[in-house]
Amino acid sequence: MTQLSKITCVEDLRRVAKRRIPRMFYDYADSGAWTEGTYRSNEADFQKLKFRQRVAVNIEKRSLKCRMIGIDVAMPVAIAPTGLTGMMHADGEILGAKAAEKFGIPFTLSTMSICSIEDIAANTTRPFWFQLYVMRDKDYMERLINRAKAANCSALVVTLDLQVLGQRNKDIKNGLSTPPKPTLVNILNLLTKPHWCLGMAGTKRRTFGNIVGHAKNVSDTSSLAAWTNEQFDPTLNWNDIEWIKKLWGGKIILKGILDAEDARHAVDTGADALIVSNHGGRQLDGAPSSISALPHIAQAVGNDIEVWVDGGIRSGQDVLRAVALGAKGTLIGRSFLYALGAFGEAGVTRCLELIAKELDVTMAFCGRTALQDVDRSILLRPDLFD
Ligand code: GLV
Repeated sequence: MTQLSKITCVEDLRRVAKRRIPRMFYDYADSGAWTEGTYRSNEADFQKLKFRQRVAVNIEKRSLKCRMIGIDVAMPVAIAPTGLTGMMHADGEILGAKAAEKFGIPFTLSTMSICSIEDIAANTTRPFWFQLYVMRDKDYMERLINRAKAANCSALVVTLDLQVLGQRNKDIKNGLSTPPKPTLVNILNLLTKPHWCLGMAGTKRRTFGNIVGHAKNVSDTSSLAAWTNEQFDPTLNWNDIEWIKKLWGGKIILKGILDAEDARHAVDTGADALIVSNHGGRQLDGAPSSISALPHIAQAVGNDIEVWVDGGIRSGQDVLRAVALGAKGTLIGRSFLYALGAFGEAGVTRCLELIAKELDVTMAFCGRTALQDVDRSILLRPDLFD
């Protein structure tokens, strides 16, 4: 069995997670839409950005501290909202939120989480963020927003790129459902995941905690699948953001921006930050990688809104590349899920430690001591994606 002390990079965590998580849930996390081209380019494009190594610069005193929408963070990384997190590991969202809180970075709970808003609030002491999908059932949305308010969430992350669902072929082939259906294939697969099964046997949280029992006509998971298909709102438009903003009354982050014109619309809503994101390559296959879309968007909005990025971040080096190209913050989805699926809370802590170390040392090699001094000049070809 791999020990945590032997884990030296996110890829190590991925390999362990793949062994420990039932196949349908691992595949759900680690796949993209259609050909998975965008999903692959998210990671690959980061690698194209080479650093300028500098020497003989005093780099003794370094800090990764910075702010995201006015919140002090230990490094410019937040945990991204990811669906079904509590199926990667029992009580996964609670464990992820605890690790993030201890490390000093924000945690975002997905609408499609297993643990509920109230579960996270009861198990943490600092405010977390809540991610909202825009749905047709506006009463339910209003209740969800009010629950996030009651839980003292400090920002609402509104996802804009899921008006229709991208087709993830693996989910279809695996017959994804939560909890898994007791088919022969699933049972045989579960028999090879004793650690996971033991965890699940010890928790009550095995279905969508924010939805089942809260939304009309949703009492079990089979009606939930129908509900999700019906519910994501294809009529979503910029005016809806006004309505959400009024109801919420707090900080808003708009997620899923890939185009400079849309970025200007995001500025016009008065949102606090936007996230350059292609939903981890899970929505429009053929869309550009997030890191390659970042420079245009950063340039289009200037200082009018904070620009963050997610998609393909597997190391602190990737975080530094994003900061160099204009991101004030980054979010990790899969890196977090691998860590959680591999070792639970301790895995997430390890993942954050690794990313922080990689970020710190790479910044030092580039001759910088603070993220505030990092800009395009640390890259050999900063214009690669211009
Ligand atoms: C939901 O957000 C998904 O990407 O599956």
